This record gives sequence, C-alpha cells and structure tokens, in this order.
Amino acid sequence: MTRKPLHIGMTLAPTWLAGEAWRRPDSDIEGLLGHDYYIDIARRAEAAKLDFVFRPDSLALNRALLGRGTGMAGLDPTLLLSAIAHATDRIGLLTTVSTTFYPPYILARMIMSLHWLSKGRAGWNIVTALDGQKNFSLDVMPSPEDRYARAAEVTDIVLRLWNSFPREAWLGDRGTGVMVDADLVQQIDYEGQFHRIEGPLSIPNMGGGGHRIPLVQAGASDAGRNFAARVADATFASTPDMEAAIELRQDLRRRAKAHGRDEGAVRLMPGLSLYLADTEAQARDLYRATHALADEARKFANILEMTGLDLRDWPKDRPIRANDLPPPPAKVRSRTHAGLLRRAVERHEPTVTELLQMPEVMGSAHWQVIGTVAQAVDEIRKWQDAGALDGFILFPGGSVECMHLCLEGLCPALRDADLLRRDYHGTTFASHFEAGEVF
Ligand SMILES: Cc1cc2nc3c(=O)[nH]c(=O)nc-3n(C[C@H](O)[C@H](O)[C@H](O)COP(=O)(O)O)c2cc1C
Repeated sequence: MTRKPLHIGMTLAPTWLAGEAWRRPDSDIEGLLGHDYYIDIARRAEAAKLDFVFRPDSLALNRALLGRGTGMAGLDPTLLLSAIAHATDRIGLLTTVSTTFYPPYILARMIMSLHWLSKGRAGWNIVTALDGQKNFSLDVMPSPEDRYARAAEVTDIVLRLWNSFPREAWLGDRGTGVMVDADLVQQIDYEGQFHRIEGPLSIPNMGGGGHRIPLVQAGASDAGRNFAARVADATFASTPDMEAAIELRQDLRRRAKAHGRDEGAVRLMPGLSLYLADTEAQARDLYRATHALADEARKFANILEMTGLDLRDWPKDRPIRANDLPPPPAKVRSRTHAGLLRRAVERHEPTVTELLQMPEVMGSAHWQVIGTVAQAVDEIRKWQDAGALDGFILFPGGSVECMHLCLEGLCPALRDADLLRRDYHGTTFASHFEAGEVF
C-alpha cells in the first residue's frame, strides 16, 4: 500500500525530564543550559529522518513552577537552533517567536539569519503568547482579539520584509562592479494598526518554493483557526482524542479552502506524549513514577483558572456533571486549553480524582500513548486512517531512555510501516513539508 508519509517533529523542550523524571541518575540537568545536549537529540532526530526539531518558548519565568521544575527557564530558541544548525545538515529548525512582543523587523531579521545559517532550514512557530506582558512594559496581557490582530499584522509585515530583498539582487558581479542590484530591493512602506515600517530588510531572502520559510501556528480558538487557515503551513495542536483532531483538521481544511488555499495547505500536527517501554506494564509504571508527586494544588488552581470551578472542597469521588460548570470565565490564558478542559468534563463527567489524572488539567492536553512501540505504531496508523492528522510532534515522557526509544525504536518501526520517509528528498525545511511526496 502507498501511504503519504507523516510529517514528524521532535520537541527540544525536555519533556522527558518532566515530573519526577529529572531525578533519575542519567538526566543531565546541567546539559540543559548548553548546546551539546540538544545537538545530540537533533542528530538522533535527523538520523530518524524527521521533518524538524522544535523549540517552544516563553518570555517569562514561571516562578510558581520553580522548585519542582524549571518554570520554562532555558535558552533562547533561535540562538539555540543556530548552534544546532552548525551540527546538522538536513533537519528543519522550528523556532518559536511571539508576535505579541517582538518588533517585526527584528523578528524578520532574526529568523532570516537562522535560515541562512542553516542553509534553508529555518521555520517559524507563530505564537501570540500566554503571558510575559510585565517584561514588556504592559500591566495586563492584551486580549486574544488584540493579540490575533497583531499576529496578522506582524506576519504580514514579516512576509513583506522577507520579500523586500530578493536573492537575485545579490549579484556580486566583479565585472560590472554591481555587488547588490539596488533596483530589485524595495521598501515596504507599511502603515498598519500597530506598526509603521519602511524596510527593506537588511538581509536577502533565499528564494521561494523549496527555499521559503515554513510557518507553523499554535492556538485553536476561532481566531486562531482563521489565522492558521490564512497563513500557516502547519498547526501545532493539542488534541487529546481522535475526535477532537478530526474536527480540527476538517475545520482547518474547510477554512483554508475558504481563503482560496489548497485544502491540505495547513497540516495538522498534534502533540504526541509518549511513555514507551518494552511492555505495556512497564510503560504504565514509568508513567505512574513520573507523575507520583504531581502537584495537586497547582492542578486545582488550573481547573479554577480555566473553568471557574473551585473543586478543593469537593469529595474526591464526586462526579463533576456538565451542569456543574459555571459559564466560561471571561479571561483565560488560553481559550484553546480552557475549551479542551471544559469539553473533557462535558464528555466524561469524571470524578474529582479522575479529572486530576487527565492531561487537560495540566494545560498540555496532548494525545497520549502509554505502551510499547508496536502499540504506538498501531495508534498512529489508526489516527492517520481516520483522517485525524498529517503528522505529529513527539513529546517523549518519563525518562531519557524513553526519549531515545522514541527516536531509535518508534521511528524505525514507523518507517517499516510506511508511515515515515526512508530518506530526505531535499535539504531545506520547506522541501520536507512539500505535498505529494509518496513512497
Ligand atoms: C499547542 C499549543 C502550543 C503553544 N505553544 C506556545 C509557546 O511555545 N509559546 C507561547 O508563547 N505560546 C504558546 N501557545 C499559545 C498560543 O500561541 C496562543 O497565545 C494561546 O493559545 C491563545 O490563543 P487561543 O485563544 O487561540 O487559544 C501555544 C498554544 C497551543 C494551543
């Protein structure tokens, strides 16, 4: 059978050290602040022929998560990826940059620099950010509407800046003495709601087609979906179950068409949280050990913030009914995550204990597989056959060993099942994303 290979990315957020996993003897906490640690993972991901490595980002330290975790402390993603660029050849490098806080000229220049440094392998994960406003002279976070209006404007500006200095302008013609053809370099003279930008960018682009910079987007509210449908090559999504993924994928296909794009223009890539071991029982033990000391107070606080429901005094065995849910709070950090938690309560009416175990409560709400490599392959095939995805981003959990098993056990097994490419066809990130690539 001929299948379309999946597009697979690997997170560089060290999810395999989450919960209690970082306390295992082989977890190298010091390594998290250097590049060798990530270069090793990127090389393993490249050997597995994945589309890209991906680094999420936050522009604020989450003090509430310090002590038992890093609170999102870590290196700047674009700088980290430029070090990885030097140590790899083919794999895409997806950096996360917020349209809420970065000036668009700096953003455009930074990502185009990564693109040149990596010989065409940069990608931009466009986020509107969840917090950090107080580090940018703001008291309150701009509303979601405002953030998406900025995202649209900033993305438009960045694309224009990238096009303002075409590669062909860089002649370097010693004979005529023209190093750069000034006629081909254009100002953008942009006047929008938030920015006034003259341009052109001070770096040429690398050309279109296989040399363009892929755009990925995260955020699945109505505004987020419309934004993705208009500009994105892929959406990074939280879809805890197959139905949620099918709905989102079909909706994005519809919206992309309504924007005059190809139906498959926006690839749906859910996060896939994996706890893998030789047997299912061992995988379950790994999951349990990782989450043994999960912070209940934080979970209750998340539930309160996302739903308005204060469960702290509820008996643990009491089911939460759909009609226990108050109207959705007017202000939440992420409407996507708040919506997913609400949906989980409405669908399952779990007891308090059951709800506390659900991934939606921790705000990631990723699709989760706990089991063997073979079980993970079956589950991934099932989702592809059901039209629930175009690929996914690997989020290994539990241990460094599990992370290695994802790249060196699961990926070869996916290749054997014709779900993953056998080799790269091109050298750029966009070439990995190209449609119609079949075995
Ligand atoms: C799966 C997923 C991953 C995200 N990753 C990031 C991130 O790394 N950094 C960030 O600042 N915001 C991140 N966000 C936040 C979104 O960009 C967006 O600001 C937020 O979800 C609110 O948009 P919404 O109303 O469409 O949900 C992420 C959101 C989702 C759903």
